[in-house]
Amino acid sequence: MESITVRKMAFEFPQDMELVFIEHDPAFSFLFLGTWMLLPFLEPYLMRTIRTAMNETKDEALRHDMRQFCSQEGQHYQQHARANEQVLAVMPEIARNQMRQQLAAIETQYRSFSEKRTLTWNLAYAEGFEAYTAAGARTQLELRVFDTMKDPIRDLMLWHIMEEVEHRTVAFDAYEALGRGYLYGLRVGIWAQNHFVGLGKALAATMIEAFPDLMAAHDNPEAKSVRDRNRSIYMRRTLKNLAPIYLPWYSPRRMPLPPMYDEARAEYNRRAVSTTP
Ligand SMILES: [Fe+2]
Ligand SMILES: [Fe+2]
Repeated sequence: MESITVRKMAFEFPQDMELVFIEHDPAFSFLFLGTWMLLPFLEPYLMRTIRTAMNETKDEALRHDMRQFCSQEGQHYQQHARANEQVLAVMPEIARNQMRQQLAAIETQYRSFSEKRTLTWNLAYAEGFEAYTAAGARTQLELRVFDTMKDPIRDLMLWHIMEEVEHRTVAFDAYEALGRGYLYGLRVGIWAQNHFVGLGKALAATMIEAFPDLMAAHDNPEAKSVRDRNRSIYMRRTLKNLAPIYLPWYSPRRMPLPPMYDEARAEYNRRAVSTTP
C-alpha cells in the first residue's frame, strides 16, 4: 500500500473563476460544484468520526493512516471552503442567501450525526462516502476527464480525488475493525450516498435557477451533442466502477489504479507548498 501524503496546496480562486468548468455542460458543472459545497461540513464530520474511532483501536498502522486521513481531509475542506466563497460571491443575492441557508442546515445535520448517532453508524456513513468517492475518482482518472476541464476547478478536483484514492482504505479498515458487518454497512452506505448526492443536487438546482441566461447560452444542438456523448460515456463507466463496491468481497485494495493516478501524485508532490509523508 502506498503512503498517504498530506500536501498543502496554494490554489488561487479568482473572482472571474470559470464555473462552467466542464465543456458545454453547466448543469453537470453545477452538480459537481453543488456536491463539493457540502465538503466544508461533510469532511469535518468524517474527521470527527475517524478521530473517535482512533480512540477505540490499538492497531498502530491503522491509527497512523487515520491521522493521515484526517490531515488530508482537513486540507481538502479548507481549500473547498475558499472555493465556495468565490462561488457564492458570483451568485445573485437571492440565490446566495438561499445557498447560505442550505449550507447552514447541512452543517447542523452533520453536527447532529456526530452527536446523536452511534460510532458504528457514522463509520458506515464514512465508508459509504469514501467507497463512492474512490470509485468516482477511478472513473475520472480512467477517462482523463480533466483533459478538457478548466482551471482552477480542474486543479482542485484532480488534487482532491487523487488524495481520496490515496486514503481509500482508511474508512474501510475502520469499519472492518469497529463496524457491524456487511449488510448493515451496505444499508447505511447506500443511505449515505443518497443523502449527500441529494444535498448536492439541491444546491445545484439553486445554481441552475440562478443563471437562466447561462443555461440558455448552452442550449444549442452543438453543445447538447457534446454533453450527451460525454455524459453517456461517463455514466456507463460510473455504473461499471460503482458496482463492485456493493459486493460482500469488495476491498479498496483491489481497486485498479489508472496511470493518471501516479501522474497526479507526482505533479502535486512537486507543486505542494509542503508535504508530510
Ligand atoms: Fe476529501
Ligand atoms: Fe476522503
